[in-house]
Amino acid sequence: MKILLTGGSGFLGWNFCKTLRFKHDITALYLSHELFLENCKFYKVDIRNRQDVFNIVKQIQPEVIVHTAAITNVQLCDKDRDLAYSVNVEGTRNLIEASSEVKAKFIYISTDLVYSGDGSFFTEDAEPEPKSYYAQTKLEAEGIVKSYDNYIILRLALMYGWGNVFTNSFSDWLHTELRAKRKVKVFVDQFRTPIYAVDAVMAIDELISKDVKNEIFNLGGSERISRYNFALKFADVFGYSQDLIVPVPMDSVKTYLAGAKDCSLNTSKIQTVLSFKLKNVDEGLNAMKRS
Ligand SMILES: NC(=O)c1ccc[n+]([C@@H]2O[C@H](COP(=O)([O-])OP(=O)(O)OC[C@H]3O[C@@H](n4cnc5c(N)ncnc54)[C@H](OP(=O)(O)O)[C@@H]3O)[C@@H](O)[C@H]2O)c1
Repeated sequence: MKILLTGGSGFLGWNFCKTLRFKHDITALYLSHELFLENCKFYKVDIRNRQDVFNIVKQIQPEVIVHTAAITNVQLCDKDRDLAYSVNVEGTRNLIEASSEVKAKFIYISTDLVYSGDGSFFTEDAEPEPKSYYAQTKLEAEGIVKSYDNYIILRLALMYGWGNVFTNSFSDWLHTELRAKRKVKVFVDQFRTPIYAVDAVMAIDELISKDVKNEIFNLGGSERISRYNFALKFADVFGYSQDLIVPVPMDSVKTYLAGAKDCSLNTSKIQTVLSFKLKNVDEGLNAMKRS
């Protein structure tokens, strides 16, 4: 399958390229972090530039566009709203409009943070209630994607796995800090359904080829867990001292803006479509360790 992937230098995009580069013909876009990977083509394209987006789509003629690129830093999105809006909303609009020229299937990666964070195990029909500007832009982009006639929206949970030298995911951060024997403060009262990045990639891959369209799916792991308990398991699996993990409540960090206490996902809908079972935290961390 000929695939155009945005965010090729990001955490999810990189895992996508690494996992599927010998299965699909992947062209991966990046903005500022150039990477090299055998059997994967990387191009620098700013998705805010409508003409450049149209040019690359016309050149590649993808059958599928997987759109992962975004400004994902919640604090930055709040501080620089113009930047967040231009990338997360206008960039998505450029891609959707270019996609319609080649009639590609469009897979948009959204976030669990579109939900209020005041419940547990949100289903796809729960009313979105984003608490951060980041999540607001992701939800507005979902609206643009929904106007297209061949889309899938994946509301993704917190991911963990191996990043690249440029990424700074939650698990990248835990690795770096714990390896250096530095203490990490981790929220004891914030709950997610974390997903192993390779599971997320495998789910996207199945949706690429399946005859499924115009649907929203939650995509998360099979276990609801606090960040603190996740970090304890992480330390245990990778042989770091659990004494380095310091439990703190969310309200102890004044600058923290995600503001979503529990965005755990109900994943029954996507599980009926997938041929494999999404992993729980122990299974995912052990798969990560083996890889
Ligand atoms: N990570 C998670 O746990 C998580 C959870 C829920 C949802 N999501 C969603 O999943 C998607 C992927 O997340 P991620 O963690 O992989 O993101 P990430 O590591 O922060 O990577 C973001 C990517 O977007 C690219 N990008 C930013 N601005 C761009 C622009 N103007 N033009 C072109 N590319 C641009 C970056 O390119 P450069 O680095 O080259 O500048 C990078 O490749 C995002 O849409 C995010 O909202 C992520």
